[in-house]
Amino acid sequence: MRSHLLNDATAEQYRRSVTEGVERVAARIATTDRPFTGVTVDALAPRIDGIDLDRPLHDTAAVLDELEDVYLRDAVYFHHPRYLAHLNCPVVIPAVLGEAVLSAVNSSLDTWDQSAGGTLIERKLIDWTCARIGLGPAADGVFTSGGTQSNLQALLLAREEAKTENLADLRVFASEVSHFSVKKSAKLLGLGPDAVVSVPVDHDKRMQTVALARELERCAKDGLVPMAVVATGGTTDFGSIDPLPEIAGLCEQYGVWMHVDAAYGCGLLASLKYRDRIDGIERADSVTVDYHKSFFQPVSSSAVLVRDAATLRHATYHAEYLNPRRMVQERIPNQVDKSLQTTRRFDALKLWMTLRVMGADGIGALFDEVCDLAAEAWKLLAADPRFDVVVEPSLSTLVFRHIPAAVTDPAEIDRANLYARKALFASGDAVVAGTKVAGRHYLKFTLLNPETTTADIAAVLDLIAGHAEQYLGDSLDRAS
Ligand SMILES: Cc1ncc(COP(=O)(O)O)c(C=O)c1O
Repeated sequence: MRSHLLNDATAEQYRRSVTEGVERVAARIATTDRPFTGVTVDALAPRIDGIDLDRPLHDTAAVLDELEDVYLRDAVYFHHPRYLAHLNCPVVIPAVLGEAVLSAVNSSLDTWDQSAGGTLIERKLIDWTCARIGLGPAADGVFTSGGTQSNLQALLLAREEAKTENLADLRVFASEVSHFSVKKSAKLLGLGPDAVVSVPVDHDKRMQTVALARELERCAKDGLVPMAVVATGGTTDFGSIDPLPEIAGLCEQYGVWMHVDAAYGCGLLASLKYRDRIDGIERADSVTVDYHKSFFQPVSSSAVLVRDAATLRHATYHAEYLNPRRMVQERIPNQVDKSLQTTRRFDALKLWMTLRVMGADGIGALFDEVCDLAAEAWKLLAADPRFDVVVEPSLSTLVFRHIPAAVTDPAEIDRANLYARKALFASGDAVVAGTKVAGRHYLKFTLLNPETTTADIAAVLDLIAGHAEQYLGDSLDRAS
């Protein structure tokens, strides 16, 4: 069994084994003609259930054959131009190479003595991101597993900086279309059930600053303590960007921590054309960025950045066996001092490889392409009487629904759109997402693939309309 351990004696086997796996994945990706096969849970589950994990195959090729059957053939492929659903990007090859390197070397980024250069590379990427944001000379941060964790950590710091011990008094202000991790974080941080104040949005799904000012005023009048305002730099559904400069002004006025959740919109930090859309982010106390959304990085790759490095001390604990306090005096850089995690992947390496091979402009140009594609798709949808489209995109999402010509009952329109989404998924021809707007069911395109064309968008819209009409036709038949 020792022959399976990766070491000096097995380096050749490692090369062969990984190459074999890479060949299979390359072959699969090269021949994927749809984003999904449409396989059902009922069809797939017995294939996986039928595998006895206590009876290994002892042969990599055989295991790869089996993997083809239980995973590779029926996976949902984000690289396909008709995968238009969630915030998943196609990944860039330098980052995939980084992924292979980081798992083979397997550094853990908690302490210097488990990573050495890895720690310094991560630190340099954090500094690079802080500089792109414009957070100032005292800024710092740390890589995390994703936007959810970044938001949690930012709100932990905000809670610790807030001027009260009484958790029940704390209030967090976020728009009604902010990410649900804000509410989840509030719960994890022990805040009260009413802690997150939902601030209404305007027609473009951006936080209404007049309403925010009113809520901050109310909070003060009620003797409560404003802990943080979470501004979203690219909402999950609409890609809308809250008015960051105005929100920053209010945060300064009321002495509140400003967190910008730029999990999605962080791609603008590299943009060659649209950087100004996220202006005001430099005034934040903390920022979430998800490189695994708009920097074309494989999951997972995210960071939380703060204006004042000293605030990261709220995540610091010392353990004799890992990061004893004396190491701070010795100036040994232990990233665990800043992180909620202990053992931690060297995800930063993927971004490093990306920046060293492609450069930030390369990433920014790809993100600009998807923003331009969304603008074109908006024109298509706005001109198409079969669809109602909600907001003109600031980033790369479109929320819309099919409005059948002869149907006025909103509940029937809901059912037709729900059916169309399901039918499309089952066909595997395309994958789109769904959401609700004002209580009604809508469909969503999240465009993160520069390979998607307006012809793809037009074709998918036709497919959606076809499925919806089919549902309505069948429903008429059922009624008659
Ligand atoms: C605005 C926003 N914030 C946070 C998150 C959570 O990020 P993750 O899924 O990486 O935890 C998302 C995910 O879609 C998001 O859109």
